[in-house]
Amino acid sequence: MARNQPVYVCSSCGGESLKWQGQCPHCGEWNTLTRVLGVRVAGGAGSAAHVGASQAAAGGSLPAPVALAAEAATEPRLELGMSELDRVFGGGIGAGAVSLLGGEPGIGKSTLLLQVAAAVGASRPVLYASGEESTQQITQRARRLSLAAAQLTLLSDNSLESILQLSSERRAALLVVDSIQTMQTAMADSSPGSPQQLRECTAALVRFAKQGGTAVIIVGHVTKDGAIAGPKLLEHLVDTVLYFDADAGSRYRMLRATKNRFGPVNELGFFAMTDAGLREVRNPSAIFLSRSAQAVPGSLVMVARDGGRALLIEVQALTDATRFSAPRRVAQGVDANRLSMLLAVMSRHSRLSPAEHDVYVNLVGGLSIAETATDLPLALAIGSSLEGTALDAKLVAFGELGLTGEVRPVPYGEERLKEAVKQGYTRAIVPQQNAPRQAIAGLEVRAVATLAEAIEAAFRA
Ligand code: TYD
Ligand code: MG
Repeated sequence: MARNQPVYVCSSCGGESLKWQGQCPHCGEWNTLTRVLGVRVAGGAGSAAHVGASQAAAGGSLPAPVALAAEAATEPRLELGMSELDRVFGGGIGAGAVSLLGGEPGIGKSTLLLQVAAAVGASRPVLYASGEESTQQITQRARRLSLAAAQLTLLSDNSLESILQLSSERRAALLVVDSIQTMQTAMADSSPGSPQQLRECTAALVRFAKQGGTAVIIVGHVTKDGAIAGPKLLEHLVDTVLYFDADAGSRYRMLRATKNRFGPVNELGFFAMTDAGLREVRNPSAIFLSRSAQAVPGSLVMVARDGGRALLIEVQALTDATRFSAPRRVAQGVDANRLSMLLAVMSRHSRLSPAEHDVYVNLVGGLSIAETATDLPLALAIGSSLEGTALDAKLVAFGELGLTGEVRPVPYGEERLKEAVKQGYTRAIVPQQNAPRQAIAGLEVRAVATLAEAIEAAFRA
């Protein structure tokens, strides 16, 4: 049960009192109680987030719930200058939120965060602390990116205590720490980058964020094979975990939230690395379509759904009469077992049998899609390659295939169709149950119940 009444929260231990007192009854500190307008949760075991509640247990009393979260929620979130970023963070960053940005070295983490720091720093105090680059290097980069921010402070230091001190002095709304692997706190005596340092530094940053309301973004380097211990170790300490990723050699970057206490997970943001830093990509479907004006056999556009949005992705298939005793099957961006199953279904339930063929499939743009909606478009692309016949360049498809050759529905059918129309496609082959209730202007939708029907529809002259 929640009652609306002011409570007093100790800035030292987080302990909660019902009336103002000069000394905190929980930890004994003086002049640390401040009034918080919030919701006090009575008998609140398992209730809303309680900052510092465990520390408040000292002194024998029950852990006192603290209602800081209620107040933080009413504070405006920091907008990050790019809507693709705000989207991944779940609508900007809240006060006191701690985020971890992981990614391979060189992917663009520092670039992105310098841009973020400058965007926020236009109106709020921001500290960008780097243990990797000198302030001169960072200033040069900022100049090259034409970034200017009235309230952005740069610091080159790897002492966490110095960084926290400066951040408090500046009353930073946002603190960027680049990277956690270079930071050192006096609370641990091991060297920077050691598990102990990583943990202690991160824990100290979390305490700092929660006490003062500073939003913190921590950079953590990771390698593809996870060789550098780090971010994995820290994920449970922070509120939001983001990973920055790229298709090898591509200028496109994808930012995905794999954990988010304040917003949706798996949200995807798209960016392009340019001479002028990272630019958001507002129409990401364009990234995954390599189609030349001329339609070629083995290619079809599917409508996938990933990161909370419908995406058009070109599916490519290449089939070749096998010269091996067991045909080769290679899958890029889709599950290899799923491909095997699909090929078996095709052999058994359609006139296009890939049984005697090597089969290679690929999703353009380097995204991996785990959803079953890829089944039908893959089968049609493989069929197109087998036949040597190009499919309609304005055709899209999505749908799951069952083992008996039936086409099964997938979630968000309408949303997928709307994205297809938006991108200029005029025909769609979809599962029967995904047929739109009302006709969609500009789109001819063919709803099918079986793979055989889908193939007839796709190869119709
Ligand atoms: P960086 O942000 O330093 O990566 P990280 O912090 O993840 O290690 O980015 C490194 C790469 O980005 C570098 O190879 C150069 C490239 N880059 C651009 O292409 N354009 C730019 O405007 C900037 C600043 C960097
Ligand atoms: Mg960097």
